[in-house]
Amino acid sequence: MSIERVGVIGGGLMGSGIVEVNARAGLDVVLVEVSDEAAKSAHDRIVASLERAADRGKISPQDLAAALERISVTDDLERLADRQLVVEAASEVEQVKLDLFRRVGRILIDEDAILTSNTSSIPIVKLGAVSGRADHVMGVHFFNPAPVMKLVELIPSLTTAPTTMDRMRAYVTDGLGKEPIEATDRAGFVVNSLLVPYLLSAIRMYEAGYASAADIDRGMVLGCGHPMGPLALSDLIGLDTIRAIGISMYDEFKEPLYSPPPLLDRMVDAGLLGKKSGHGFYPYG
Ligand code: NAI
Repeated sequence: MSIERVGVIGGGLMGSGIVEVNARAGLDVVLVEVSDEAAKSAHDRIVASLERAADRGKISPQDLAAALERISVTDDLERLADRQLVVEAASEVEQVKLDLFRRVGRILIDEDAILTSNTSSIPIVKLGAVSGRADHVMGVHFFNPAPVMKLVELIPSLTTAPTTMDRMRAYVTDGLGKEPIEATDRAGFVVNSLLVPYLLSAIRMYEAGYASAADIDRGMVLGCGHPMGPLALSDLIGLDTIRAIGISMYDEFKEPLYSPPPLLDRMVDAGLLGKKSGHGFYPYG
């Protein structure tokens, strides 16, 4: 039974990209945001991104129009009732996600419907436990920008049924044309467990005055062949999201390298969230 009707919760950086990926793959997508205004601005972001893809010749004008036809946006969670798969991509706040899983677990009509989270660090087993359908809950972790990045981490929890995992593997590979890797339900999974301590170390280095932001980034781009330096990458991911992931990983493992440095706390408190807010370690026009 292949997945044709998808719901996405949260249309920020990740959610809007996930909507685009699904619509371009020919799936019908309903996006739910917190308000009508937030839903409309998520829709504008998706349209702009699809138009950029068309300008670059990645999709034809016909495919652009067809993808847009498949997307609807709303602020009403009940619109998810007929979905076969929901991908939750709301802010990385445990209470927000618990509340959504509690509600959406009961809104979905199809008893085979799968409820997933794009969380970077919140235990999947907790989300399953409140959903009333723990065997149909797992993590599906896309990478930023979702329309470009090939990798998807698949995270079954202790309570996920093997058939749920099989269907999600088929959805990611055959449905979306992406490459899955499997990780256990531990904060950070594979990629963030390695990446986040590196990013936090770069922020600590900058905080301690070792070098300028530009030189730290140039060091890793020119010295290690990374496509982007750690501070520019932090800005791209979102400093609030990195901070939240670091806190979850520190809570779980008590490893000092995962603990967010004071500068990161202060920047988040000041609303300097990186590219999405217009300013982080660098300004964005
Ligand atoms: P973001 O801050 O860009 O977007 C979050 C969106 O969720 C906002 O538009 C907000 O209005 C919406 N939202 C909050 N509560 C909601 C609710 N109750 N119902 C509906 N919408 C709600 O955050 P971003 O970066 O898109 O992250 C979303 C999730 O994806 C987080 O769990 C994060 O850990 C994960 N993630 C983030 C990556 C990144 O590079 N930023 C990469 C992979 C995963």
